[in-house]
Amino acid sequence: MSDQKRILVTSALPYANGPLHLGHLAGAYLTPDLYVRYKRLTGADIVYICGSDEHGVPITIAAEKEGVTPQDIVDRYHEMNKKVFEDFGISFDYYGRTSSPVHHETSQNMFTVLHEKGFFKKKTEKQLYDPKAEMFLPDRYVKGICPNCGYEEAYGDQCENCGISLSPTELKFPVSALTGEEPVLKETEHWYMPLGDIQPKLEKWLETREHWKPNVMGQVKSWLHDGLADRAATRDLSWGVPVPLEEAKGKVLYVWFDAPIGYISATKEWAREQGKPDAWKDYWQNEDCELYHFIGKDNIVFHCIMFPIVLMEHGDYVLPKNVPANEFLNLEGRKLSTSRGWAVWLHEYLEDFEPDLLRYALGATLPESKDSDFSWNDFQARVNNELAAILGNFVYRSLSFTEKFANGKVPEFIEPTKTDLEALASIQIQKEKVTAAYEGFKFKEAIAETMQLARIGNKYFTETEPWKTRNTHPQACNNTLYVSLQLCAALSVMMEPVLPTSMKKLRNQLGVADGLSWNDISDSMLSSTTKVSAKEVLFTKIEDDQIQAQISRLEERAKANEPESPFPPIKEDIQFGDFAKLDLRAGEILSYKAVPKSDKLLELRVDLGLEQRTIVSGIAKHVDFETLVGQKVSVVANLAPKKLMGIESQGMILMAEDSEGRLTFVDTNSENGSPIT
Ligand code: MF3
Ligand code: ZN
Repeated sequence: MSDQKRILVTSALPYANGPLHLGHLAGAYLTPDLYVRYKRLTGADIVYICGSDEHGVPITIAAEKEGVTPQDIVDRYHEMNKKVFEDFGISFDYYGRTSSPVHHETSQNMFTVLHEKGFFKKKTEKQLYDPKAEMFLPDRYVKGICPNCGYEEAYGDQCENCGISLSPTELKFPVSALTGEEPVLKETEHWYMPLGDIQPKLEKWLETREHWKPNVMGQVKSWLHDGLADRAATRDLSWGVPVPLEEAKGKVLYVWFDAPIGYISATKEWAREQGKPDAWKDYWQNEDCELYHFIGKDNIVFHCIMFPIVLMEHGDYVLPKNVPANEFLNLEGRKLSTSRGWAVWLHEYLEDFEPDLLRYALGATLPESKDSDFSWNDFQARVNNELAAILGNFVYRSLSFTEKFANGKVPEFIEPTKTDLEALASIQIQKEKVTAAYEGFKFKEAIAETMQLARIGNKYFTETEPWKTRNTHPQACNNTLYVSLQLCAALSVMMEPVLPTSMKKLRNQLGVADGLSWNDISDSMLSSTTKVSAKEVLFTKIEDDQIQAQISRLEERAKANEPESPFPPIKEDIQFGDFAKLDLRAGEILSYKAVPKSDKLLELRVDLGLEQRTIVSGIAKHVDFETLVGQKVSVVANLAPKKLMGIESQGMILMAEDSEGRLTFVDTNSENGSPIT
């Protein structure tokens, strides 16, 4: 143990602005928990840190929506999220929060040290300001059209459609998310991180990083390729860590400046709790410590570029050895969306199923190198066909057979066959594969190779037919049980990172002590005569109706969250005869005149192929006069003539009205006069 390096693992601090869902678990929490649990079994000196991200606009917007204070919001969700992580067995050594005094002090200190080193560039710039709300509009306080892709709901810090990162002034047609008002520009002062200046140094450091996932390095390279821009480390907001400068009164640290420092603050609090207040330095200020940040892919730039630059420029801290970011998890083939109700909430999952089942099912489909999909049917299949039918079945058969036919004792192993020895040898073989997979951050593979040992066991049990040899060749039967039980014992430790609750139950049935290490996994963990018992089935099958209930709930929620349609409802049914009475024709506008005393009406001359018509139409505000002559249109040709402003209108031009009330022609390529049927 002492020759091992210290390891510090962090999971992205989730915003305490709402409950956690499946996407969170798959992105930044399950994988590191697997890793940490595995590493602890190997005896590593490892600390696992997380906590709530309690600052930033996501929090204040949630508070405004509910009409409560930001403090109310973070208090509620900090407790709720902390508990749900515990319930899922996510084994943080410490779960902190960025509103804590230690965090305020630590992040202010980081700012001060960097400030004294001359790191920040102070700039006076014009920023968007909402005169009605009397505040600046950083980040998500402003929405507008993305300059990159044209998406209309882009935020001031990011467009969620194309992923580009933005600053509020880049948005086209910005509006305040608070009042819906058009913001004005107002001068303000901020402290910028000169990321571009540090880029060459950062690139050098990145070159020394080994085994980074291609999806992570790829994203980093593309940011660097575009060239890093200065990024403000301060904001004009009232909620957050105050900037520790007299001249910056009323300003707070940018949430993405303070939040990652939360990893350090939480480690300090952990150390205090251990009664060794300086122990955090053994990790953060120890060159030999391996630091790993586990995150989802939307956090890559902050953990691979911004935070390393902060740590680097401070100078006293260790930098991450790896940032094994996951991609995104989709749900039932669609992008997860909390606002559209397309999400599985973790606290709700726990009302219906055991945490281990999701740890396994999700672990088997992790979005490790590309986006992946979670579906309830796949969940059911993983539980029924793998956990229950393979692992559970194998364990149950081995134990209950031993109980019934071997007095519940591990039998002697005498004159084994090649088959027996091969099955036994698979423990070592699988152990090596699983070890290599965990060490290489290949968690799906680690889980699959662990399950493979149960598969081998189950198959071996079937093939050696102990229910027959019991009568014909009792020692062969004993050997089957001996081998099977050793496999079960090995599994009870090897599967521990994935299924902590179930494996504890299994060890209990096998009489295997808790607290065994990875090193103890061997082909002889049970001595003969150890007492075993089949106390309970580890996994029960999930019925179709249980799964259907989950799918229905999801669909109902999605429906309830569908935006109200901006279009009028469909009119009552008509019969074909009603429709057939209409005579619609393709036509073309030949000329136009304004109608005196009307700003809406135009007098149009329209070619209908067989004849020309005069049509008065209320479209003056919607048309482009440059292209009006020659515009192809659809005309109601048998509408009885009617006088409008003294002009006889001989038909009607069809227009489509969009959700904003804009009118456009119902265009057609057909020759003038063609009936539209
Ligand atoms: N709260 C952020 C999110 O949910 C993650 C913060 S990670 C940290 O996307 F580095 F800032 F801690
Ligand atoms: Zn965009």
